[in-house]
Amino acid sequence: MTDTNIYLPHLMRIAKITEEAPAVKTFRLEFLDAAAAEAFSFETGQFGLYSAFGEGESTFCIASSPTRKGYIECTFREAGRVTASLADKEEGDVVGFRGPYGNRFPIEQWKGKNLVFVAGGIALPPLRSVIWNCLDLRDWFKDITIVYGARSVNDLVYKDELKEWEARPDVNLVVTVDPGGEVPGWTGKVGFVPPVVEALNPAPDNTVALVCGPPIMIKLTLPVLAKLGFPPESIFTTLENRMKCGLGKCGRCNTGSSYVCKDGPVYTLAQLNSLPAEY
Ligand SMILES: Cc1cc2nc3c(=O)[nH]c(=O)nc-3n(C[C@H](O)[C@H](O)[C@H](O)COP(=O)(O)OP(=O)(O)OC[C@H]3O[C@@H](n4cnc5c(N)ncnc54)[C@H](O)[C@@H]3O)c2cc1C
Ligand code: FES
Repeated sequence: MTDTNIYLPHLMRIAKITEEAPAVKTFRLEFLDAAAAEAFSFETGQFGLYSAFGEGESTFCIASSPTRKGYIECTFREAGRVTASLADKEEGDVVGFRGPYGNRFPIEQWKGKNLVFVAGGIALPPLRSVIWNCLDLRDWFKDITIVYGARSVNDLVYKDELKEWEARPDVNLVVTVDPGGEVPGWTGKVGFVPPVVEALNPAPDNTVALVCGPPIMIKLTLPVLAKLGFPPESIFTTLENRMKCGLGKCGRCNTGSSYVCKDGPVYTLAQLNSLPAEY
């Protein structure tokens, strides 16, 4: 292989592993090659293909913020062959990464606006990237609200960061767990994400909403936002269509005429409404 091979991954050292929740880990990855590290940049919303050598590649968002230099992070749930192999890795091991791919959240267009993040379960990672990006540019935005739900307290990811966001006076964090998922002493909410958002009643004026979660959460949250008055142009999400090349070449990921790996994964609801309902 030569360095012109577009499928050639960067070699990345696992600098840190965080156990987030059952079967969910975060890897902090650093480039082995200093020149590659220097040349690398990405924007929030983009994703990559992460490889366990001998097993294959898996697609994950880049879960860290582009404002945090020198590393990237991914958070993944063990789902099958590649993720099981990645989950067996230890700090110091080397994995592959190619990317960044896809489009991004247009955060510079949100200057002066309120932001409402709505995330469920393992879908917090793509929003965590944009949350930290926006918090690192805090002066650009007005109110920042984060609603995050998981099945149980144990299933919440980024537990330390949730505490950090909760302690910040410039962030309104609402964490909820499904009924039965609470533990003694739990001070957050108990209930599913859509009714929690409805009760919170965020004002739609001058506000952008970002929604990421399991399909059922998205399906039930979008009508709530519509009822609250959010126009489809102000609602953003990211799609996770199955991918192979990540480069717009194999045709694996399309929704209608849109290649999620190139035109997405970030879409407004207005854009999704114009595509076939395959997503
Ligand atoms: C743009 C994008 C971003 C993603 N970001 C993340 C992330 O940040 N963290 C994370 O944990 N996962 C993420 N995913 C999903 C992740 O790619 C898959 O879970 C992973 O590739 C499974 O690989 P595997 O070889 O371990 O499992 P496989 O053996 O390939 O599959 C195991 C099971 O997972 C299902 N599966 C595989 N891929 C998908 C998919 N894309 N959507 C729904 N079901 C799937 C299979 O049907 C099968 O049932 C993302 C996917 C995309 C396309
Ligand atoms: S993953 Fe190959 S075209 Fe999108």
